[in-house]
Amino acid sequence: MEIITSIQEMKDYVKYLNENEQNISFIPTMGNLHKGHISLIDESKKILSKKIASIFVNPLQFNDKKDLDTYPSNTEEDIQILKENNIDCLFMPNEDILSDLDYKIYLPDGFGTYLCGRYREGHFEGVYKIVNKLLDLVRPNFTYFGKKDYQQILLVKYILQKNPEKFKKINLVECKTIRETNGLALSSRNSLLTEGQKNIASEIFQCLIDYKNIDENIALKKEFKDKIDGRLQEKGIEMEYFEVFNVTELHTLHNISFSSSDHKIVFIAARIFGIRLIDNIEIE
Ligand code: PAF
Repeated sequence: MEIITSIQEMKDYVKYLNENEQNISFIPTMGNLHKGHISLIDESKKILSKKIASIFVNPLQFNDKKDLDTYPSNTEEDIQILKENNIDCLFMPNEDILSDLDYKIYLPDGFGTYLCGRYREGHFEGVYKIVNKLLDLVRPNFTYFGKKDYQQILLVKYILQKNPEKFKKINLVECKTIRETNGLALSSRNSLLTEGQKNIASEIFQCLIDYKNIDENIALKKEFKDKIDGRLQEKGIEMEYFEVFNVTELHTLHNISFSSSDHKIVFIAARIFGIRLIDNIEIE
């Protein structure tokens, strides 16, 4: 596996692949890799292509300094995992990647009013800048993102549509959330929790499942929603949001084209022992 840290070397590597007419699959990450990331890599194996993964903990997307300072990192093990999974190239950009990112971003209208956009000021502006920069450098044929970060996927779709010329060959592959056996969605932040705390945190997923299992009864669903805050508090979990959206509504709100059938998604964000976790589940 090649490990590249300089932007120029990355450009040269991509140029070389293009000259040799190789398809490129790109898996951007912030490291501390887990089975969720491996599932993105597995998905990329379905296509004959050179596999490029990136690891960069992007400071621009952390609205909370403490979250950035404590963000788990495990580079040696990550490199091992990527090698074992036959990644061809790991891009670990140095700080130069941030050098021309000091410009104003306009997110889609209303993006800052719901889900993480509402609670993490500046987060999606930071994601926009780094994703746009990485995709511009790598210009992959396929790029892989996990559905746990659903609003991030919406943003990536928006970035691709906003730059049709530059990004026309990029296919975004949306990958399903991978879970622990107790249901807890895998996240790099889980490694900041003990096994016991992770078991308690599985209550977050349980709330989604229990909501999904209520029959289509608006009054019952409302009653359930009103009680979630208290239910989580009893376990020492602090709820940030619990919201239900129709996916067509989310896409049309931002003029993002959408092809699959309409359904609802329930979204949750909560803090447990100071660690912020998010999850979602498709219903109906
Ligand atoms: O989902 C992530 O890990 C990050 O937001 C990403 C897409 C790598 C950008 O920093």
